[in-house]
Amino acid sequence: MACPDPHSCFDDSQSRARHWRLRLRVDFERKVLSGEAELRFERPAQGPLDLDTKGLTILSASCREADVPFELEGERPILGRRLRLRLPPGTRSVAIRYETSPEAMGLQWLSAAQTEGKRKPFLFSQCQAIHARSVLPCQDSPSARVTFEAELDVPEGLSAVMGAGPLGDAPSGPGRRAWRFGMPQPIPSYLFALAVGELSSRELSSRCRVWAEPACVDKAAWEFAGVESMLAAAESLFGPYEWQRYDMLVLPPSFPYGGMENPRMTFLTPTLLAGDRSLVDVVAHELAHSWTGNLVTNATAEHFWLNEGFTVWAERRILKALRGEEAASLAWAIGQKALDEELKRFKDRPELTRLRAHLEGVDPDDAYSAVPYEKGARFLACLERAAGQAEFDAFVKSYLARYRFQSVATEDFCRRVEERFPGLLAKVDADAWLNKPGMPSDAPRFCSPRLNALAALAEDWPKGRRPDPALLRAAKPEELLVFLQRLPQTLGPADCRWLDDNLGLTGRGNYEVLVQWLRLAAASGYQPAFERVRRLLLEVGRMKYVRPLYLALGKTPPGRALARRVFSEAAGSYHVLTRRAAESALAGYPA
Ligand code: BES
Ligand code: ZN
Repeated sequence: MACPDPHSCFDDSQSRARHWRLRLRVDFERKVLSGEAELRFERPAQGPLDLDTKGLTILSASCREADVPFELEGERPILGRRLRLRLPPGTRSVAIRYETSPEAMGLQWLSAAQTEGKRKPFLFSQCQAIHARSVLPCQDSPSARVTFEAELDVPEGLSAVMGAGPLGDAPSGPGRRAWRFGMPQPIPSYLFALAVGELSSRELSSRCRVWAEPACVDKAAWEFAGVESMLAAAESLFGPYEWQRYDMLVLPPSFPYGGMENPRMTFLTPTLLAGDRSLVDVVAHELAHSWTGNLVTNATAEHFWLNEGFTVWAERRILKALRGEEAASLAWAIGQKALDEELKRFKDRPELTRLRAHLEGVDPDDAYSAVPYEKGARFLACLERAAGQAEFDAFVKSYLARYRFQSVATEDFCRRVEERFPGLLAKVDADAWLNKPGMPSDAPRFCSPRLNALAALAEDWPKGRRPDPALLRAAKPEELLVFLQRLPQTLGPADCRWLDDNLGLTGRGNYEVLVQWLRLAAASGYQPAFERVRRLLLEVGRMKYVRPLYLALGKTPPGRALARRVFSEAAGSYHVLTRRAAESALAGYPA
């Protein structure tokens, strides 16, 4: 097996880079990173070495001052261009001088206007799944791990942070400052992360700190104050935290995800700053990745469920430990709705709803959905129920310890389950979970008294019975979310007005509740909410919100008109992935 990963030209019969030394200059005028990546090998290397690149300009390759011959092959769709180096015998390291493209998929360059402070530009990276190759030439497969050291040269007045340990900063030239970082634990390339902007930070515990733009750093520190207790709960469930520090960075609102588990520095969307700590389960999720994903990593994107399904399961175990069974049940129920919707969205591509995916020729960004998350988590919950919680917990701990700092495939996981619990896989029909599309009919369902009560309120709605508003006003945000998810997804103007007047939905700070409402309002053509939809779509780039809102606007002519107007205004400031998601929603509108 020379090329184990369909999304990378990483060839495991060639030498492996074990360490990167990066020196990069951040150029906000040209929107490029330029500099040098030195790849070091464990043993003297020689012969061909294939690296992934996308949009990179390769200026030179050298080893001990001597040029190393290289070819940059033609562009392949999705994958980019293979850079083939020919290493002379005895090569211990090779230095590549290069430059990124302003369109690099792994980087988003924001103007000052797109930040909260409006004074300084901002840069952040998002390398998962296969965008590290647009940031540096590398063996861009999660089955190859590296340690690294990096120096980022940035304009004075901006701070640089990385998914790594800081090693200090010093002036590097007129108006410039160099920030140094080291990452002693080996990571897969998709966890390489950097951000540059006007940042300040607050300490949350001896090993946790939050970074954000100065204008929202105190709000962030309040919102995430409980992170140390999550970390402690996670350690007791999953074993020691192996990354020394757990810091977080709150990004500008165009960040396309809710969170990204960059090691030592989780990246978060500012839409989590609800003002009531009601969205911290996203932090629990990213934190849980420190074990499930970062420590034990999916071998390729075809085993993505091992990262995300495992992490959703782990996140809900943390939630249960901290807030109890009822809170965890609500989270499972909210996830069930997302799962049902995504199974519908993928009804014409059912093969993408298998946990063990086959992605040759498929862009991982196109395959991305809630399915590996929620179906994967349910598969694990099913194993957990069949094995018994204490036994399954002990198994998970030993599995994580066994594969720490390694990459695993679905087959490795199954082998370990079979070893520990002979016959269990067959008993739960693991083959159906892993290899068949959709959900097995006996998939676990989660219920609780609170959940049943909320569902009953929503079921009464079409029968014309309105709930007591006081009851819903007293509900927690996640309870309100459950209620809203269960209402019919288009309503008349009087119903919409009732909801908004009684529950103050348009003014909500919890984005899950807000967006669930705005989707309903948009799909119903309820124009009093359109201005809030417009503002949200101009500001927020989180795909989880942007895609459904554009889809909902597509249901009525005034909605479509708004969507087209807003998109033409917002497109330029969206992350490429967000722009694509919005474009594909617009493309599905009736002519
Ligand atoms: N690792 C993912 C984000 C990701 C996945 C980025 C694939 C690029 C490609 C992260 O851990 C995640 O799952 N984020 C979720 C939050 C979560 C609570 C489910 C998100 O962004 O919504
Ligand atoms: Zn995740």
